[in-house]
Amino acid sequence: MAAHQFLTDIKTIRARARQHLERGAVTEGYRADRETVLRLLNEALATEIVCVLRYKRHYYMASGINAKSVAAEFLEHANEEQAHADQIAMRIVQLGGAPNLSPQGLGQRAHSEYIEGGDLLEMIREDLVAERIAIDTYREIIQYLGDDDPSSRRMMESILAKEEEHAEDLGTLLAELDGGSRGNREERTARGH
Ligand SMILES: [Fe+2]
Ligand SMILES: [Fe+2]
Repeated sequence: MAAHQFLTDIKTIRARARQHLERGAVTEGYRADRETVLRLLNEALATEIVCVLRYKRHYYMASGINAKSVAAEFLEHANEEQAHADQIAMRIVQLGGAPNLSPQGLGQRAHSEYIEGGDLLEMIREDLVAERIAIDTYREIIQYLGDDDPSSRRMMESILAKEEEHAEDLGTLLAELDGGSRGNREERTARGH
């Protein structure tokens, strides 16, 4: 069977492209359920914004002996989550939707939570939990998009890869700091304090 038999003939594609110009990038061939994709992308957008806010809070509140380098990491993550939010919002508009940036219900729309955390270790732990939630929900969104919306899928794949990097960074920080504080405790115990 020749490959071209799988393809819509070019005359049909050209004719279809002239219809519904108001839909912009969304053509007749768009196979995904647009409403569902827009809802999922808006949930991902809310997730990114909650992550920006949480990382910013942690950035400003980081204190203690290891605070400087950890705060720098928080800020870097906050900026990267903001970039993700921008990418997602742009894609929503491209699909003919509207990004939901309303503060009302933001926490409910988001997958991950806004948890302030007390000390540095708690903050890092909460950030790691949030990243791990995003990793799982984004993976599901990617699976849902499949071949029906390759552009949204590729965008979410690149964002997922970044969240995995974030999780790895936080895991390393957690191991270093947790190990360090445990070491200090053990040392104190050994010295009889
Ligand atoms: Fe992100
Ligand atoms: Fe992240």
